[in-house]
Amino acid sequence: MARARNRPALVAHGGAGNAGPGVERPERRRGMMAAMRQGAGILRANGSALEAVVATVAALEDHPLFNAGYGSLLNSEGNVEMDASVMFAEPVAPGPSARGKRVRSDESDYTVSAGAVAAVSRVRNPIMLARAVMEHSPHILMAGAGAENFARKVGIRLERPEEMVTERARERWRARKQQAGILGAEAAARAAMGHGTVGAVAVDVHGGIAAATSTGGVPGKLFGRVGDSALIGAGTFAHAFGAASATGQGEAIILTALCREAVLALGDGSPQAVAREAILEMIDATGAEAGVIIVDRRGRIGYAHNATSMQVARYDPAGGLQHLWLAPIATARHP
Ligand code: GLY
Repeated sequence: MARARNRPALVAHGGAGNAGPGVERPERRRGMMAAMRQGAGILRANGSALEAVVATVAALEDHPLFNAGYGSLLNSEGNVEMDASVMFAEPVAPGPSARGKRVRSDESDYTVSAGAVAAVSRVRNPIMLARAVMEHSPHILMAGAGAENFARKVGIRLERPEEMVTERARERWRARKQQAGILGAEAAARAAMGHGTVGAVAVDVHGGIAAATSTGGVPGKLFGRVGDSALIGAGTFAHAFGAASATGQGEAIILTALCREAVLALGDGSPQAVAREAILEMIDATGAEAGVIIVDRRGRIGYAHNATSMQVARYDPAGGLQHLWLAPIATARHP
């Protein structure tokens, strides 16, 4: 696996949606930067992109102001049901691959591996369980009670479901129920468009490329609904070309296979142009709201969304750590 050193890079998002209460913004920024410092520290120490994205996402899951892990919003029944996924593409020396599936690109051989969990209610860090599915099971996606049973077997502690519910999430759920009584369930869910899914993508000095995404789902979701963040290719994708993580309306992201389409398009353009085009295509196809972050194998970064606001942070050795509240893209194709 001896390769030239790559330029490392890390990008994270804290969700695309409405701007959220202004009073929460400074703390959301602090939470995002603390998570980024963990991920960037791993990359600076020549650690792997997989470690960096999992550490970044796990820190965001632990923060109660993000809609993932502890702090997840509640489903229609008032319970937490979380989705998460991770994917890792690693360069390998020519020869039979030890694990994963072989992917051949024009320039390199990579193995890719992936793990995901859907509709789990009892783990503090669904992204760590997704990683355990990737590394310690023959499967890619596990759901519900079976995924939680697997968590116990690999030594991941199970919480009581009510321990995953924050007072803030409970208050928002009550407000949405009240609004649904007045507006109807669909209109109330639209009015609540606060997504807050979290995700990270990274490339490391060894050429490893990773993506990770975690969420409590969308407001007003039905009991048992699973979104894009559990689905490789939709909410998360990594490949020899680069990696992507999505946020926003999961159904639209699934229908357009947003992250896979974006990463495979990296052969043709800069990550910024690819991110913008992926969102424009998603709008054309579905009219929904979504955002995407991308890193390519050269450590170049891109992000775009069409919601009201999207929280993003980025790290690379030249620019250091930066935080942005990202404005939506202009939706005309030739502005
Ligand atoms: N993008 C998060 C979800 O739809 O669940």
